[in-house]
Amino acid sequence: LVDNALAASNSLHRDQLLFSYKGILYPRILYSPEVFKALESFEARRDDVILAGYPKSGTNWLSQILNDLIAISQKKTPGSESSVNAEEQEEFPYLEIGDSEKYERMSKLPSPRFMVTNLCPEKLPKSLFQNNAKILLLIRNPKDVATSYYHFSNGVATVPSYETWDDFFTDFMAKKTAWGCYLEYLSEWNKYADKENIMTITYEEVKENPALSVKNIATFFGIPLTEEQLQLVVERSSFQSMKKNSDKTHGSFGNVLFRKGGVSDWKNHFTEDQSKKMDKAFEEHIAGTKLGKKLKY
Ligand code: A3P
Repeated sequence: LVDNALAASNSLHRDQLLFSYKGILYPRILYSPEVFKALESFEARRDDVILAGYPKSGTNWLSQILNDLIAISQKKTPGSESSVNAEEQEEFPYLEIGDSEKYERMSKLPSPRFMVTNLCPEKLPKSLFQNNAKILLLIRNPKDVATSYYHFSNGVATVPSYETWDDFFTDFMAKKTAWGCYLEYLSEWNKYADKENIMTITYEEVKENPALSVKNIATFFGIPLTEEQLQLVVERSSFQSMKKNSDKTHGSFGNVLFRKGGVSDWKNHFTEDQSKKMDKAFEEHIAGTKLGKKLKY
C-alpha cells in the first residue's frame, strides 16, 4: 500500500513538472509545444556552431570550449570582456529554449552563431541537416550520464527529485525521466554519425586528452589556433577552473552543474543487477554501431 501511494505521488509530481511531446518528456518550465513548433522554421547556416548532447553528458564544458574557440576566430581573447557578444548572451544558447519569436531574432544575429541542443535529430529542424551546418555531437558513458542526472535531479527544481538512487534508476530505465531514453537518443543520432558535417566526441576522450580534443574540434570548425591559444582554452576549460568560476558563469546552479567532473562515478551508485540491466539495454540499442563502438563503455 505504501509503495502504491508513493508511486502515485511520484507520478503526480512528474505530471506537474513534465509534459510529453511526441513521445518524450520535457520540463514544463523550460519547454513548450509552441516553441517546439516554431523551431521547425529555424534556418540553420553553414557556419553555425552547434553542440548536440544529452543533458549531463558535459554540454556546459564543451560549450565553454566552443565559445572560447569562437572568440579566438574573431581575434578576441577568451574570457575577456570583449569576447562576450552581448546580443547573443541575451539569448539562451539552448536552441529549443525560449519564446516562439526567438528564431526570428536569431535570423538577424551575425555569424557565427553558437547554439546547444539536447534534442534527438528527428526533433530538430530539417535545415540543420540540409544546410550542412557543423554539429559537434558529444556522447558519454550512459552509466555516468545516469549517475550525473540523479544528482542533478536532486539539485534543481525543473525536474522531479528522487529519494533514492534505486527509484531514479527505475524511472531512467523506464523512460519516465525528462529528455527520454539516453540509449534511444544515441541510436537516433547514430543514424547521422557518418555525415561529414557531424563530428562525434566522447566526454571520456576530452577528459583523457583535452589538448588533442580541443585541437580536433578547432580543426573541424576551421579555426586556426596558436599553441598559446590552445593552452589557454584547455586551462580555462579544466574542471577546477570552471568550477571556481561557476558562480560568475552559472550562478547558484554552479554547484549542481560542476559536481565531480570525472569518469566512472557510476561504480559508486550502480548495483551489479542495475549494471547488468544497463549492459543489456546498451547491447540492444547501440553496441556494435559506430557510436556504440566509440563510447568508452
Ligand atoms: P558529473 O555530475 O559526473 O560531475 P552537463 O553540462 O551536460 O549538464 O553535464 C554535467 C556533467 O559534466 C557533470 O558531471 C559535470 O561535473 C561535468 N563537467 C562540467 N564541466 C566539466 C569539466 N570542465 N571537466 C569535466 N567534467 C565537467
